[in-house]
Amino acid sequence: TKLLILNGPNLNRLGKREPDIYGKSSLKDLEEELRSNFAEQLELSFKQSNWEGQLIDWIHEAEEKYEGIVFNPGAFTHYSYALRDAIASISIPVVEVHISNVHAREMFRSESVIAPVCVGQISGFGFDGYKMGLTYFLKRSG
Ligand code: DQA
Repeated sequence: TKLLILNGPNLNRLGKREPDIYGKSSLKDLEEELRSNFAEQLELSFKQSNWEGQLIDWIHEAEEKYEGIVFNPGAFTHYSYALRDAIASISIPVVEVHISNVHAREMFRSESVIAPVCVGQISGFGFDGYKMGLTYFLKRSG
């Protein structure tokens, strides 16, 4: 099963960025952790962009290349109708992941305009949230 792990804005700064909220590990650490856990079962690709349009292009292209996406849209979660429409336009499933618990923070973070077009939302479990997302695809592919 080929899957895309897609990370949105500011997630390239993981490890340096607000470590009390997002932890001390980097995006590279996340990639290594997921590869070492799932390498035998899943074929994983990793992409990150701070640009909404780039994320939209990758989501469109993903339909042909992958069986699903595990997506952390960062702050775009809370207001990007364009990303929501991009996800709605493809037929492969998308799982929304957040490192922090978006429901326990500022009010604006508790709304996700992305969640209604995703299989579900995982929030508050740190890097383990990405593993939970991948586990969904593992079970789905049998
Ligand atoms: C985040 C939560 C968002 O509210 C925030 O803007 C992020 C990271 C998370 O993984 O917890 O950039 O998506």
